[in-house]
Amino acid sequence: MTLRTQNIGYWYTNNPDDYLFKDVNLNFEKGKVYSILGQSGSGKTTFLSLLAGLDSPKAGEIFLNDKDITKSGLTNYRKNAVSTIFQAYNLMTYMTARQNVQTALEISNKSIDNAKIEELFELVGIPKELIDKPVLQLSGGQQQRVAIVRALATEHDIIIADEPTGNLDEETTQDIVNIFKEIAHQQNKTVIIVTHETAVANETDVTFELKKKRFTQI
Ligand SMILES: Nc1ncnc2c1ncn2[C@@H]1O[C@H](COP(=O)(O)OP(=O)(O)OP(=O)(O)O)[C@@H](O)[C@H]1O
Ligand SMILES: [Mg+2]
Repeated sequence: MTLRTQNIGYWYTNNPDDYLFKDVNLNFEKGKVYSILGQSGSGKTTFLSLLAGLDSPKAGEIFLNDKDITKSGLTNYRKNAVSTIFQAYNLMTYMTARQNVQTALEISNKSIDNAKIEELFELVGIPKELIDKPVLQLSGGQQQRVAIVRALATEHDIIIADEPTGNLDEETTQDIVNIFKEIAHQQNKTVIIVTHETAVANETDVTFELKKKRFTQI
């Protein structure tokens, strides 16, 4: 499994000179955690949204196993290949943790048994008694873990997360980083996280920094 960008560029105006980044050629392989580091406003979320198939680059293509992801359709790509964890979790707060996971599975036309779901909650450190509580009653760090379980349950090859440790304390940040490492290294998935924290980036296998509109591996 390789996800590869080929000369991709993006700009929000009609003028290509206003690009946030261009001619970006990056490779993401399975079994590794990648981080994308950059200042606020540099274009990290924009770049992730292209990898997540939520938007298309203004220039260039993205290939999954040498197939242009737009060829089989971005909806298909999102349904079968990639799971996204957003900056603001995007959980359905009136639902329980378990219902959030089940809803994501239904959207992907998948089903896994309850025992497996409970195993995933255990993996991320959500105690059993919280699984059937409305997520509104969970802390920020716990909600982030629920969002991770939701991304894992669909068993997609690529997990993309935007500032997954944004509002968390040091210990919880370390826990979450460890979960991502375990997912990549043990389950052989591709994990791509955006962060502005150098300490988080330092723990990942590969870091690409978006600086002065260019990506460089650091
Ligand atoms: N929908 C949009 N329309 C126009 N401009 C946008 C839009 N979304 C983002 N931008 C601009 O594009 C630039 C990059 O935004 P983006 O959200 O990708 O940055 P970021 O690196 O994720 O920042 P942060 O670290 O603050 O989340 C910013 O200048 C932002 O104002
Ligand atoms: Mg952002």
